[in-house]
Amino acid sequence: MKRKANRKSPIAMIVSISIIILIAILGSIYYKFEVAQTATEEKSVEPNELENKETQNTINEKEEPLKPQSGNGDEPDSAEDPSSSSEQPIKEPAKETPPATEEVELENGYIVGQKPATEPTFVKGVLIANKKNPLPATYNKGEDPKARAAFEKMAKAAKENGLELVAFSGFRSYEYQQTLYDRYVKRDGKEAADRYSARPGYSEHQTGLAFDIGEKGREELWLTNEFGDTEAGQWLAQNAHKYGFILRYPKGKEEITGFMHESWHFRYLEGELATKVYEAGVTLEEYLGIQ
Ligand code: DAL
Ligand code: ZN
Repeated sequence: MKRKANRKSPIAMIVSISIIILIAILGSIYYKFEVAQTATEEKSVEPNELENKETQNTINEKEEPLKPQSGNGDEPDSAEDPSSSSEQPIKEPAKETPPATEEVELENGYIVGQKPATEPTFVKGVLIANKKNPLPATYNKGEDPKARAAFEKMAKAAKENGLELVAFSGFRSYEYQQTLYDRYVKRDGKEAADRYSARPGYSEHQTGLAFDIGEKGREELWLTNEFGDTEAGQWLAQNAHKYGFILRYPKGKEEITGFMHESWHFRYLEGELATKVYEAGVTLEEYLGIQ
């Protein structure tokens, strides 16, 4: 019995070992197959994920320029943009703001019944005096020294080109503008005067930043648009911006500026603004968006 048992035992062991080896081989084959399958699935997912990311980036890039751009001074800070807040669980439907329907009666571009100004108007840091934005009667700072210095520099450059410029009218007080305007109304009537002479409080000359410029020796052309056709007038039109001045009332812009073309009236602006306005080929009102 002992021998019999001993004889069977090796066979049983061989069978057992064979079964174990077979299971191991099968297990290994199955494992390899599973790993290969997973890798194939991962590979087939990757491009889609990348594509999604790229699409997302493209959307973001397209959306960004629609955000208000900061840096210009008065645009709302993007941090305050409610659309960028993630703390709004419910998105309310956009409320339609009806356009302002307040109608104002105009007379030759002036707002009828407009109250006298108590403060000067600044738009993007620029002092504005036009038919819609008057200055207080008490705004009486005199000629701006920076504007004067800029004029002198410009006159020097013009002289180097054989042109002698004269600033024959600069700062005007509210009272002086009143005298001038009344005189013109008496001479030409209110409608005509309103096209070329500002009412008191509405003249850019009261800012101390404007000059009426002509050429020495050509006084007969001062305050005429023939001046614009002279060499001096042409030089000014093309070069004044380099010294901080803009031709304030260009041809064909009366509806916007409120005043007929004046080839002699130049307005001083700080920094590079005059060049920006000149290069944009627009009026100050258009540049500042205050038509
Ligand atoms: N001539 C300009 C418009 C003024 O009177 O201020
Ligand atoms: Zn003027």
